[in-house]
Amino acid sequence: MNNRHSRKTFISDLMTSLVDEGKIKKIPPAWLTSLSSNDYLGLARHPRVIDDSVNALRIYGTGATGSRYLSGNHPLNEELEARIARFKSLEKGVGRIFTSGYHANLSVTSVFGTHAGTIYSDSENHASLIDGLRLVKKAVQVFPHGDWKWVLDHVKRTGASRPMVVTESLFSMSGDFAPIPELYRIVREKEGLLVIDDAHATGTVGSKGRGGLDFFSLDFDPDFMIVTGTFSKALGSLGGFAILGEKARTILTSLARPLIYSTALPPAVLAASCSSLDILENSSHLTKSLQDLSKRWQKELTGANSSSPIISLRGPLSTLRQESSQLAEFGFSLPVLVHPTVPEGQERLRLSVNLTWTSGIEKALKTTFSERMGVSR
Ligand SMILES: Cc1ncc(COP(=O)(O)O)c(C=O)c1O
Repeated sequence: MNNRHSRKTFISDLMTSLVDEGKIKKIPPAWLTSLSSNDYLGLARHPRVIDDSVNALRIYGTGATGSRYLSGNHPLNEELEARIARFKSLEKGVGRIFTSGYHANLSVTSVFGTHAGTIYSDSENHASLIDGLRLVKKAVQVFPHGDWKWVLDHVKRTGASRPMVVTESLFSMSGDFAPIPELYRIVREKEGLLVIDDAHATGTVGSKGRGGLDFFSLDFDPDFMIVTGTFSKALGSLGGFAILGEKARTILTSLARPLIYSTALPPAVLAASCSSLDILENSSHLTKSLQDLSKRWQKELTGANSSSPIISLRGPLSTLRQESSQLAEFGFSLPVLVHPTVPEGQERLRLSVNLTWTSGIEKALKTTFSERMGVSR
C-alpha cells in the first residue's frame, strides 16, 4: 500500500502506452466559446425552439422511460419521423429516428452492409460510419477521398455486384462535397445502395437547408439510397435519423440493435427538433444567410469559392498551435485536430461559420488569421 502512485497496475500501464502513442485527448476548458460549434444557425438557443421544448418537458416529463419497442414510443417520435422525411425527401422516403446520429449511422451501415455485396467507404468518412462497417465483419474497400472514378474502376474490374457505397455529403472535416451524382449513377447501374450521411448538410446546404441531394438537384430515390443525419448540428437538438424506402425501414426496424436496445429520445428533445424543422421549412432566409456568410469567410480565409460552413485551415502544426493559442487568449476555443480525427499529416483547424457570430468573434478571427487573409487576397 505504500507509494500507491508508482504501483504498476493495468490502468497505469495502459495510460503509459497511450501517452507514448500520443493518444491522450483533453476536453477544452468549458469557459471558452467554441468556434467549431455545429449549431450553425443558432437554433439551439432560438426562443421558439426553447418554448416548444419546455412545454413538452412540463407536459410529458424528462425521460422517454424505455426503448420505442417497450414504453418509449411517445407520439412525437412518429411526428418527427414524418416531418424529417418530408423535409429531406419531399415525401419520397419515410423516416426512422435514433437516439443519436452515431446510432443512425452505426445501424444503417451494419444492417445493410451485412447483406450487401462489395462495400465502398470514403477515406474521410465519420467514425460512426466506420464503426458500423467494422461490425459487418467483411472487407471494406476504402476509396481515396471523393474519388468516384476509383469506385467505378473497382466495380468494373472485379465485377462487384450489389455494391454499397458509403459517404458523407458535406464532409465534416474538410468541408468539401462528395461526388453524389456520380456515386448514385454507379449504385443504380449495379442495383446497389448509396448511403449518404447528411449530418452537416442538413440545415446548411441546398434550399432551406434540405441538404446534399438538394444541393446537387437530385431527388431522393428510395430504391437506391438511404440518407442519414442528425438533429444535433444545424437543428440545434439531439438525435439521429435515416430516410429510406418503406421496406428498408422495416428491415432497419427489425435488425438495428442501437434502436432496439437503447432508450428512445425524451419528448422535450423531440419537440425541439420538430420546432427547428418548422422554423427551417417556413424561413427562406435563414439557410441563405448562413450560405452567404460562409461564402464570405471561405473567400477571406482560404480563397475558395464555396458556400460550405466548414472551413478547413491547414498549415504547419506549429502555426496551427499558435493560432489556436491566440484564439484561446481571446476566450475562444478552436483546437488543432490531429490523428485519428484527421489523417496523419493532415492536421488542421476546423472553423464552423455561425450565424450568431458577434463582432467580437469576427475581430478575433481577423486578428488571428491576418496572415492567411493577406495571402488569399
Ligand atoms: C459526419 C457526422 N456523422 C455523424 C455524426 C454523429 O452525430 P451525433 O453527434 O448526433 O451522434 C457526426 C457528429 O459528430 C458527424 O460529424
